[in-house]
Amino acid sequence: MALGVLCAVWGLLVEVAVAFGPVPRITWEHREVQLIHFHESEVSNYSTLLLSEDKDVLYVGAREVIFALNSVNIAEKQHELHWKVTEDKRTKCAVKGKSEQTECRNYVRVLQQLNETFLYVCGTNAFQPTCDYLNLISFELGGKNEDGKGRCPFDPAQSYTSVMVDEELYSGTSYNFLGSEPIISRNSHQSPLRTEYAIPWLNEPNFVFADVIRADQNSTDGEDDKIYFFFTEVSVEYEFVGKLMIPRIARVCKRDQGGLRTLQKKWTSFLKARLICTIPDKNLIFNIINDVFILKSPSLKEPVIYGVFTPQLNNVGLSAVCAYNLSTVEEVFSKGKYMQSATVEQSHTKWVRYNGEIPTPRPGACINNKAGASSYMSSLNLPDKTLQFVKDHPLMDDSVTPMGDRPRLVKRDVKYTQIVVDRVRALNGTIYDVMFISTDQGALHKAISCENGMHIIEETQLFPNFEPVQTLLLSSRKGKRYLYAGSNSGVVQSPVAFCDKYTTCVDCVLARDPYCAWKPLEASCVDILKESEIERNWIQNIGGDASSCSDKVRENSLQHTFKHGSTAELKCSQKSNLAQVVWKFKDDVLKVESPKYRLLEKALLIFNLSEGDSGVYQCLSEEKVKNKKFSQVLAKHVLELKKIQHTTVGPTVVAATTEGNSDVPKVSAVSTEGSAAQTSTTQIMPVTTARIITKPVGPVLTSAASNTEIFNLIPDAVPEKTMFLKSNDNFLLMFLFLFFFILFLCLLSYNCYKGYLPGQCLKFRSVMLLGKKKTKSDFSDCEQSVKETLVEQGSVSHQNGEQPKPAHDTGYETEPDCGNGQVQPGDPQAFREVKGKPFDVKCELKYADSDAEGD
Ligand SMILES: *[C@@H]1O[C@H](CO)[C@@H](O)[C@H](O)[C@H]1NC(C)=O
Ligand SMILES: *[C@@H]1O[C@H](CO)[C@@H](O)[C@H](O)[C@H]1NC(C)=O
Ligand SMILES: *[C@@H]1O[C@H](CO)[C@@H](O)[C@H](O)[C@H]1NC(C)=O
Ligand SMILES: *[C@@H]1O[C@H](CO)[C@@H](O)[C@H](O)[C@H]1NC(C)=O
Ligand SMILES: *[C@@H]1O[C@H](CO)[C@@H](O)[C@H](O)[C@H]1NC(C)=O
Ligand SMILES: *[C@@H]1O[C@H](CO)[C@@H](O)[C@H](O)[C@H]1NC(C)=O
Repeated sequence: MALGVLCAVWGLLVEVAVAFGPVPRITWEHREVQLIHFHESEVSNYSTLLLSEDKDVLYVGAREVIFALNSVNIAEKQHELHWKVTEDKRTKCAVKGKSEQTECRNYVRVLQQLNETFLYVCGTNAFQPTCDYLNLISFELGGKNEDGKGRCPFDPAQSYTSVMVDEELYSGTSYNFLGSEPIISRNSHQSPLRTEYAIPWLNEPNFVFADVIRADQNSTDGEDDKIYFFFTEVSVEYEFVGKLMIPRIARVCKRDQGGLRTLQKKWTSFLKARLICTIPDKNLIFNIINDVFILKSPSLKEPVIYGVFTPQLNNVGLSAVCAYNLSTVEEVFSKGKYMQSATVEQSHTKWVRYNGEIPTPRPGACINNKAGASSYMSSLNLPDKTLQFVKDHPLMDDSVTPMGDRPRLVKRDVKYTQIVVDRVRALNGTIYDVMFISTDQGALHKAISCENGMHIIEETQLFPNFEPVQTLLLSSRKGKRYLYAGSNSGVVQSPVAFCDKYTTCVDCVLARDPYCAWKPLEASCVDILKESEIERNWIQNIGGDASSCSDKVRENSLQHTFKHGSTAELKCSQKSNLAQVVWKFKDDVLKVESPKYRLLEKALLIFNLSEGDSGVYQCLSEEKVKNKKFSQVLAKHVLELKKIQHTTVGPTVVAATTEGNSDVPKVSAVSTEGSAAQTSTTQIMPVTTARIITKPVGPVLTSAASNTEIFNLIPDAVPEKTMFLKSNDNFLLMFLFLFFFILFLCLLSYNCYKGYLPGQCLKFRSVMLLGKKKTKSDFSDCEQSVKETLVEQGSVSHQNGEQPKPAHDTGYETEPDCGNGQVQPGDPQAFREVKGKPFDVKCELKYADSDAEGD
């Protein structure tokens, strides 16, 4: 098993050349679509979003500011509240070695609706997480300043997730300054609960999402509401050379009260299982979960869980979307086998399936009517045997498998970060789940699954600066369907579809977008969900059959005159990445491979024009869907030889423009007869190199013919990258190895020089520094960062589920993590004072290579 996993993960390195995934049909550049932006100067990190659909407000949590925006037009700011860190706190935070300008600020991390009038908000507050109540009427904080430990991370860089359920906050984050103590907790006055601090419960988790799934109101078995958490953590069950990450789903029950003696104030219903997202026949394992969306819709029998995943060793940039139905998840938790740790050959533990007797009531089960009937009305009176069992066995042996046993979508050369899913009824009544998936390059993919696999309708560049999308929200209210995306630099609001961008019926239908339909009478492509009523004659076909379209043939053509030996540029642009441009000259397909022609992305160049080149040129777009080919004439150009002969010098301008493109720079070539070809070529070159198409048209056409290989149409840059990775991978690895080796040597000598390393090094150092009187060590920022890289996060003793031990004396000259400008090295008194300060700083120095945990 372990070997299999290992092979599979390393298999990724070999699978480099494999091409994957459908190509987005349309790519919208940032300037091509109308998006609404919100951002304020001096404010950054817009990473927390909350939508209040009934009030049409979008709340935005940024760095030290909370905004309330009009969700119909986010450029319209309604309120803003500054929530700053006090000078005093900032200084104290800086003293602990954190950056005063960045880390020691207040990053808003929790933004949850408490009730009609209040939001519950938490911020990192210079490594002293604080929560408060935000009054929505006055837009002011209540000034409660509750301790946010366990609800909000200390460190803005650390993962977090939270969900508000019946005025109680459930959150997954870390509980201490170093971020080494993970926790899933409920913040409640009646019964606050948390996870055990033990490796089998949570092992260096990276939280991504949490949500509640309500029990069926009509059912008679009194099932409880359940809160699900999604995270990636370090595996305990597989052996691996390094840290093997595993994506998990964990759940707790809302009515959990904790145990009476065992598991007092701890979850008695915490169970977790592995989420599987793999392509077994390709040996691809997607084991890092990046985000989750739970699709709950009245038209769905049960909620569907969508997750976006990437592999751990992602050298080619693969991403996948897997979908799970809730019944599969519930089956695993309510009927699955448990895992248990067994000690083999002294101290070495191994996780194996537990085949022994399982106590009743079933450990980790929610209290329902059945349990109530056997007098277990609350988790407080569960028997110790059950509680002890769940305390030791929180991990299920069975895994949650995706619907269809494989990913819904696999795509290469992107890293998906966030996902939301909308359910749309198409014109013919079929329901489509439209997935909106954001990337780490600021783009958004919109995809549906149809008969012949996934179809990516479009790719939209939401952020012009290609930064990662950190939050994605969907408002699916009637007439107000929008997407909201948050990033470090701002928030963007986008419509769910750009139907009006399609100007012909064929274009509108070939988009295969369930939101869009063609209105023949008005000759326009419209968003069906925005229309008040739907008429019978509208045209939509998600299968991509555009044969019922009757677009008028483009009659107008552009006339150009040219001179002997000059060059012509005939413009023709077409948006679909799935279509092919075909040029026809006098109704015959032009052989663009000939050196006389050069096919650019948006134009055709014809060199060395002569009499035989005059005539009608047509630019066609041909798109094939399910063996049906649809072609449209995009542009018509007529070339004519110029009659006047006696002009000797003068620029020949042969530039053709299609409508609406008149601002495109025109091509001009100075040409005199005779030397013409020479001059014009050199003049043209800059234009051609900038827009050259590297892929010849011929092979692409043939590959488009077979439906299964649509992904061969990946735009130009991709094949080049593939080649690069294929041939240069070994070189790259060697280079990286060398680089890190040199880095290691530098670090070693630096630390030796500074005297952080004991033993022989000191001798070496004293030899080196002989004669030089060393002044007292100066703790600069730079030095601090060097030291921080030596501290393994999460390395504080996890061993027996106890609170972390205070730092022990490492025997080194200084204790770097607590170092600050004032403390003299080797002054234990001053050092102890720092440690006594409010944060529970746990100092432990670990060298990168000393980490043996999990191996
Ligand atoms: C909302 O919650 C706050 C804080 O718990 C409470 O003071 C207030 O009365 C609640 N308001 C309503 C309308 O329930
Ligand atoms: C905040 O945004 C800046 C860029 O504006 C980025 O460099 C930094 O990493 C962000 N910090 C966090 C905690 O996201
Ligand atoms: C629950 O029962 C009510 C009335 O009996 C019914 O209208 C509703 O559709 C049921 N809901 C579900 C989810 O079955
Ligand atoms: C849930 O998924 C499993 C596995 O693909 C499938 O067997 C089962 O029928 C699905 N259940 C529902 C209700 O769709
Ligand atoms: C609607 O159109 C899709 C795509 O052509 C087809 O698969 C589906 O069967 C149609 N649904 C109905 C109800 O006709
Ligand atoms: C241009 O075309 C003429 C014939 O039309 C030919 O003789 C000449 O060699 C061509 N020049 C170049 C540079 O191809």
